[in-house]
Amino acid sequence: MAVIYDPQTKQYSLHTANTSYIFQEREGFLVHLYWGRRTEGDCAYMFREQGRAAFSPRMERCEGFILDDIPLEYPCWGRADMRTPALEITNPDGSVIIDPRVAGHRVIKGKPGIKGLPAVYAENGSECETLEITLRDEVSDITVKLYYCVFAERDIITRYASVTNGNSEPVFIDRAASASVDFDRINYDVISNFGTHCRERNIERAPLKHGAFVMSSRRGASSHVHNPFLILTSPRADETSGDAFGFVLVYSGSFTAEIAANQFDTARAVIGLNPDSFRWKLLPGETFTTPECVLSYSGEGLDRLSNNFSSLFRERLCRGRYRDIRRPVLLNSWEACYFGFDADRLMQIGDSCADLGIELMVIDDGWFGKRDNDRCSLGDWFVNEKKLPGGIKRISDHLASRGVKLGIWFEPEMISPDSELYAKHPDWCLHYVNRPRSEGRYQLILDLTRQDVCDYIYDSVAKILREGGIDYVKWDFNRNMSEAGSPSLPADRQREVDFRYYLGLYSVLERLNRDFPDVLFESCSGGGGRFDAGMLYYMPQVWTSDDSDAIERLKIQYGTSLVYPMSAMSAHVSASPNHQTGHVTPFDTRFTVALTGSFGYELDPTQLSEEDREKVRSTAAFYKRYGDLFARGDYHRLRDPHTENCSAWCFVSKDRSLCVAGYVLTHVRLYGNNERIALRGLDPEATYRETSTGARYRGDQLMNFGLHAPTTLEYHSILWVLEREE
Ligand code: DGJ
Repeated sequence: MAVIYDPQTKQYSLHTANTSYIFQEREGFLVHLYWGRRTEGDCAYMFREQGRAAFSPRMERCEGFILDDIPLEYPCWGRADMRTPALEITNPDGSVIIDPRVAGHRVIKGKPGIKGLPAVYAENGSECETLEITLRDEVSDITVKLYYCVFAERDIITRYASVTNGNSEPVFIDRAASASVDFDRINYDVISNFGTHCRERNIERAPLKHGAFVMSSRRGASSHVHNPFLILTSPRADETSGDAFGFVLVYSGSFTAEIAANQFDTARAVIGLNPDSFRWKLLPGETFTTPECVLSYSGEGLDRLSNNFSSLFRERLCRGRYRDIRRPVLLNSWEACYFGFDADRLMQIGDSCADLGIELMVIDDGWFGKRDNDRCSLGDWFVNEKKLPGGIKRISDHLASRGVKLGIWFEPEMISPDSELYAKHPDWCLHYVNRPRSEGRYQLILDLTRQDVCDYIYDSVAKILREGGIDYVKWDFNRNMSEAGSPSLPADRQREVDFRYYLGLYSVLERLNRDFPDVLFESCSGGGGRFDAGMLYYMPQVWTSDDSDAIERLKIQYGTSLVYPMSAMSAHVSASPNHQTGHVTPFDTRFTVALTGSFGYELDPTQLSEEDREKVRSTAAFYKRYGDLFARGDYHRLRDPHTENCSAWCFVSKDRSLCVAGYVLTHVRLYGNNERIALRGLDPEATYRETSTGARYRGDQLMNFGLHAPTTLEYHSILWVLEREE
């Protein structure tokens, strides 16, 4: 059993194959005892009451119980815990206090869904058990429920909370985190990510210091800047050893992920909605439910932690017919011709796709309204007949006759002030009355808190999908929120806009998923500005970055791989020199880097040399041959491009019979000729044959010594394919 409750000791134990998460009821509070390698038995002794008051008030009638020094499961604001809370409520009388105590619990087979929100799911009752604990604040008649869903075989626990107002008057939720965990020490490293447009998810690692370390977004999107995940490790942890604790939020809007080292050298992690842009009015009888947070612990370093998260997200967060299979090899028109296309040009490109073995062509931005640049027409989702006479269907029919499928770009959440939609509905965008509306890329954001706006988005996208013969949608989002008000909501609900916006977006995406189960949806936000677990629930892949340069992508994809599956990262071979950086990179290297994600091309195939056309043909064929490995295999990071002069990785099939490993030299060190890459995840006793040279190696040789890597040609790469001999 994954969830065990001992009524004698009031201890709750959540066990997975390799980990345990344990807490206990004391004085009605849920006191955290342990999270780490699997540990059983009575753990009450782990609670250490030191009587450290240091100006922190004691609980009434509980001599030593100093709340400010107690490790709590879901800390609430208003009593004597001065650390960052998970829950903050303003009551009808203005008091800012919530003090719920345990009132009961139940264990549910499987995992309940979270209404209106994306969430990890179980496919059957036996792969997950859910512990629901009810806490009640009798004074203000508020019920808090904490949910712990335990995926025992995956070493995963997910958490979320709900708040129900039993009062006869409304209360305000000022903060409601998805999860909070207290640690009894601070000697951890924090692995964080930072970035910007075209430079997402760089990784930094630093020892936790006193004070709070916060990664957050108030941008109305999970954002390019910080991604909603947080990792803590023991100081010497590396890829294969040491403790690693991870938190990933399943949400796409503003968030906060904080880890604070407190006065008594304890640490608290809190992750959830960003309270800076959140305040929820909860009417009598209503329930508010937070987004979900996914937690995992690995006692074997980061590699295991990443594989725990990525296989869960791939198999139990992503949905739809493309979940478990390799995605079609595609060509995207953006860097091929930007806005400069017409039907003939697209059909020529489509013909080249057919010739080169590319399975799907995507028409990116510029096919609708009067859009020839980025200054107009968002919202006018009807075909520009001047550019594309005969509509999208004419193109999809032409492509179909050549065996190529069609994809199309939308940016449905936006509205251009220069559009027919804006002329008709100037009030449909997020804004405050009598305030200017800041434009980002000449556009405003539609008010998805409104049902009529959500319906318009659904109808416009669905109409094109129904008429066009379309198999794929790239769903873009090219600015963050400002002046994020909704005049359709009352004054005391304006801070609900960020969250309500995402409820609206998720409802539209849910309808589209339901009604177009065969369409492959790709999320994009100027590349990776919304690369989060929330979007992955609706769209199993994301355009990872607008920087398509292979060398830059090494870092971006490395950082993203800490918690997200490689199959979720769209990665394309782009032109050289690269359009963003000017780097000149050999075709093989561009391929080696793009191969690790959902693969395609971002170049004009009609302009390629015969030699490069042949390379496109052979690389498309390679991806088709090994695509299942990239879609379902385990991914191992072998060299860190942030700190080393190269990058290396390998994919290994679950049965260890196949391995594809890649290496890219990013910076030549003269006379530094000793590089060898030790692989991971192979069968040590098996013999593997490297297919291009025919050389044979034992698995232990490949893992303990490795393969010699080229060290002299900057930006050059090597790809090894190793097949186990039976
Ligand atoms: C931003 C995306 O990330 C690009 O790939 C492209 O689709 C442009 N938008 C189109 O405007």
